[in-house]
Amino acid sequence: MQNQINKIIPAVRMMLSADSLKTVKFFAEGELYEPVKSIESLVVDNSDHVLTELSEKIKSAGKKIEAITIKGFGTLLVADYPKGNGRVEQRIAIVTGGAQGFGAGIVEHLMQNGANVVVADLNAEKGQEFVDELNATKRNNKALFVKTNVADAASVENLIAETVKEFGGLDLFISNAGILRAGSLDEMTPETFELMTKVNYSAYFICAKYASKVLKVQNQWKPDHFTDIIQINSKSGLKGSNKNFAYAGGKFGGIGLTQSFALELMPYRIKVNSVCPGNFFDGPLWADPETGLFVQYLRAGKVPGAKTIDDVKRFYEAQVPAGRGCTPLDVMRAVYYIIEQEYETGQAVPVTGGQNMLN
Ligand SMILES: NC(=O)c1ccc[n+]([C@@H]2O[C@H](COP(=O)([O-])OP(=O)(O)OC[C@H]3O[C@@H](n4cnc5c(N)ncnc54)[C@H](O)[C@@H]3O)[C@@H](O)[C@H]2O)c1
Repeated sequence: MQNQINKIIPAVRMMLSADSLKTVKFFAEGELYEPVKSIESLVVDNSDHVLTELSEKIKSAGKKIEAITIKGFGTLLVADYPKGNGRVEQRIAIVTGGAQGFGAGIVEHLMQNGANVVVADLNAEKGQEFVDELNATKRNNKALFVKTNVADAASVENLIAETVKEFGGLDLFISNAGILRAGSLDEMTPETFELMTKVNYSAYFICAKYASKVLKVQNQWKPDHFTDIIQINSKSGLKGSNKNFAYAGGKFGGIGLTQSFALELMPYRIKVNSVCPGNFFDGPLWADPETGLFVQYLRAGKVPGAKTIDDVKRFYEAQVPAGRGCTPLDVMRAVYYIIEQEYETGQAVPVTGGQNMLN
């Protein structure tokens, strides 16, 4: 069933999106109380030729189609809400690790700019609460939470299928989930190294593998439509990080994956890029009052002479030519550049306030 969902629904969405992007919600057979009787609906049998048949019928329909029933499969309801002025209107986006930190900031910006967004995170409580808050604001676009472990292939496959069932396809996959456990060679255990590599490196492969299947189907049915896979990397993916090699190594590897996926996927108009932010000092990783890096560094006496969290923060800010930490808006500006730029792929875009400069 998952195979059919990922093949049929994104194809139909693209057939219906000739002029502007549509979203399509799927109901498996029996899930709708009544069969759709609208005059703008199409009914076809599920056969090997179902897509060719539908393509011909949609082209010759000469009217706006609101529902399609495929016997033995289910019904697709077409949503065509009024287009606003956002930069990602009616696009469908997944943000992994979207429940907090950079991911949550990216989700908010995408929602404000008209996208339908799936928050994919291990933290179900925080993720669902965030999505409920987003959906409480009256708007046409919608957020969905799908509990996901990006390091688990079956979980990511499920994420993609749930996205396709709810919205009809995918235009933007943001691989943002990441973890940080610093440590010297003496401190780092093989188990922690393995976990970091799984979440920060291997998971990016798993996400790209399943996301690209749907993006390829869409390209087949609407060859002029560009889509994106964007990995949130780090400045530590561009320069080594002292006693933080497990993180830096995974992030360096991520750029190798980005460049290689980009070569493989550009023929399908799927662009693959990384964004390499500097430190997000106001995010939970640094600023959490109990577990954040500022409080840890203060307790450990890592910054000579520092007496307060603010002293530690100022010490790190002073290392950035721009004099401040990175914010989700800074990251979003790079994300928009990547989405809107059709003539670039395989890049690692630094957003570091001048802290890292490319050769
Ligand atoms: N915070 C920074 O200073 C900074 C700087 C540069 C790059 N980054 C990168 O930005 C990304 C986000 O970082 P952040 O600081 O916002 O992180 P964060 O710790 O604030 O949030 C990460 C989110 O990912 C989720 N997550 C963790 N493991 C997961 C898994 N296996 N599957 C699904 N979800 C999972 C967590 O539940 C959490 O909601 C990471 O890739 C990180 O490497 C962060």
